[in-house]
Amino acid sequence: MERYALTGTPGTGKTTISALLQNDLISLSDYYEKFSDGKTKDGEWVVNIKRLESSIKSLEWEIAEGNFSHLLSIIDKVIVLRCDPAVLVNRLKERNYSRKKIRENLEAEAMGIIYSESVRNYGVENLIQVDTSKKTSKQCSIIIRNYINNNIKVEEEIDYLERILDWY
Ligand SMILES: Nc1ncnc2c1ncn2[C@@H]1O[C@H](COP(=O)(O)OP(=O)(O)OP(=O)(O)O)[C@@H](O)[C@H]1O
Ligand SMILES: [Mg+2]
Repeated sequence: MERYALTGTPGTGKTTISALLQNDLISLSDYYEKFSDGKTKDGEWVVNIKRLESSIKSLEWEIAEGNFSHLLSIIDKVIVLRCDPAVLVNRLKERNYSRKKIRENLEAEAMGIIYSESVRNYGVENLIQVDTSKKTSKQCSIIIRNYINNNIKVEEEIDYLERILDWY
């Protein structure tokens, strides 16, 4: 069975969409505490990916959900969730994130960092991007199900780099 990473910048919808998928799924955030080498001064877990990976390798799952799941070496394909920064900002403002953390996440999404890392690790042929900005989570889950079950790739042209210009 092939294994998938469901990744994306915080707020793009990994957890929300996961709940609509029927596949065996693990959330990497459930393992952060156990496999971390402490926390940063901003309170983020410093996850030891190698240790986490060796522990989840033998578990039964088809999708690993989390914003560094695309950095695992034990998956076959990647699903990258994207979101227009102009929409993402509102999703992140609903969380009690600092202004700095919101800005960092918006910049990362505008620059497509997770997408680039996924391409570097797995290649464009082994991934799809799903833009969640204007779709419902249900619509997104159908696209993902079609990719996993039928290998149907819905190609989306996504480029939010110009959003950064709006901020200056
Ligand atoms: N098409 C969509 N798909 C997923 N979520 C959506 C969509 N449209 C709106 N949303 C909203 O966006 C938010 C996504 O939050 P969610 O916690 O699922 O993100 P996440 O990627 O898991 O973030 P984190 O990395 O912090 O865990 C939710 O409030 C959800 O209702
Ligand atoms: Mg989540």
